[in-house]
Amino acid sequence: MDKKNIVIKIGGSLLFRRTMEIDSQKVEELCNVIKNKESYDSIVIVVGGGMIAREYIEFIRKHTKNESLADLLGIQVSRINAQLFVSYLKDLAYPLIPKTIEAFSVAHLSHRIIIMGGLQPGQSTTSVALEIAEYIQAEQVIILTDVEGIYNKDPNQFKDAKLLENINKTELSSIIFKETDETQASAGEYRIFDAVSLQILKRSNIKVHVGSGKDLSKFKDFWEGKVKRIGTLISG
Ligand code: UTP
Repeated sequence: MDKKNIVIKIGGSLLFRRTMEIDSQKVEELCNVIKNKESYDSIVIVVGGGMIAREYIEFIRKHTKNESLADLLGIQVSRINAQLFVSYLKDLAYPLIPKTIEAFSVAHLSHRIIIMGGLQPGQSTTSVALEIAEYIQAEQVIILTDVEGIYNKDPNQFKDAKLLENINKTELSSIIFKETDETQASAGEYRIFDAVSLQILKRSNIKVHVGSGKDLSKFKDFWEGKVKRIGTLISG
């Protein structure tokens, strides 16, 4: 059987309950699906910052007005969140969180599951997932988030928002830029796709699926090869 490389981005929104406690059941469920890794040569998990990152970012923004510093705090929190997965996966995981692509390239030699958070200011963890996917020539990136996929408008604001099953890169760029305002490029506000991730998508052939991490049944079917896609599929 042909083995493949895959990158999974886990949105930080999935990791915490409203009361800010860690949703340990969610971390366990996600790891238990991913642990079954027969079909893949390389698995990389990129973890987001979630509500905790946003708390730090708001404090730093308010007191320093330094967006770069706010990004750095977001990155640190995403790395702490990544550590949850390293701890649960134990020997299946590479024990360190790579902080650069160079460090990642060394980790990659271990053939273990690699877990990462952010890399540098000015982007989101979705960009990290795509940067790594490009580097390891992954065929697919799965973005697990708190909605079912990409909608024609914000599903949290509009009841009539429609889930898009397929979307091309040009359509994606126009939705992202239409739906986001001037906060698009502020720390903590890079939406599922930020400008950097759109650029990487444009120059690569990576297939990106955006799907639900709340109900993991579709992701599980995808992982086990029962279905070929989940949520929204972004293609050329
Ligand atoms: P994300 O915004 O990517 O996390 O990273 P998230 O919670 O998963 O976001 P959603 O669910 O996709 O919306 C948290 C913050 O860390 C900084 C940014 O400020 C980002 O908003 N960050 C992350 C960077 O500056 N560089 C990175 O490479 C990654």
